[in-house]
Amino acid sequence: MELVERIREVLSAELNPDGILEILKREHREVSALMDHVEQSKPGAPARTSTFEEIASTLLAHVKAEDEVFYPALDKIEATHGMALEAHEEHHVIEVLVAELRAIQVRGEAWMAKFHVLTENVDHHVKEEEDKFFPKARTVLAAAHQVEMATAYAAARDRHLAGRTTHSEPS
Ligand SMILES: [Fe+2]
Ligand SMILES: [Fe+2]
Repeated sequence: MELVERIREVLSAELNPDGILEILKREHREVSALMDHVEQSKPGAPARTSTFEEIASTLLAHVKAEDEVFYPALDKIEATHGMALEAHEEHHVIEVLVAELRAIQVRGEAWMAKFHVLTENVDHHVKEEEDKFFPKARTVLAAAHQVEMATAYAAARDRHLAGRTTHSEPS
């Protein structure tokens, strides 16, 4: 990389410290706090249902936007291709569990058992992303690209949160 290009990249990253990895990690913390809230809630508590709905919508928007904006770039690079495939499969399991939780009675024991499984899957996936995938992504994606991705990611996430899923690219 040309020196001038490298300097531009570093300056850009400094002016915009929030690259996509920082945004994703912040969202992981937020969803984890909400999941703890549900784990500690009493059966039948109205907060359990409303907090779960918040988790479901933010989690689905997060994984869909990651699949749209973040992982396609890593999928094209040989060093990160395998982890992009793995992340996509883990997202699929999370999406299935969220859909199943939405379909059954929140009050029942079965719901809480399934919610535990969702928590375990999300914890595992977040750990894998933060300990393995993100450090690797940081080495293969230019800092300026990470900053650009942050903007594209936020737009995709907000579109999913608003319920608009008519993106032209496959998710
Ligand atoms: Fe994530
Ligand atoms: Fe993910």
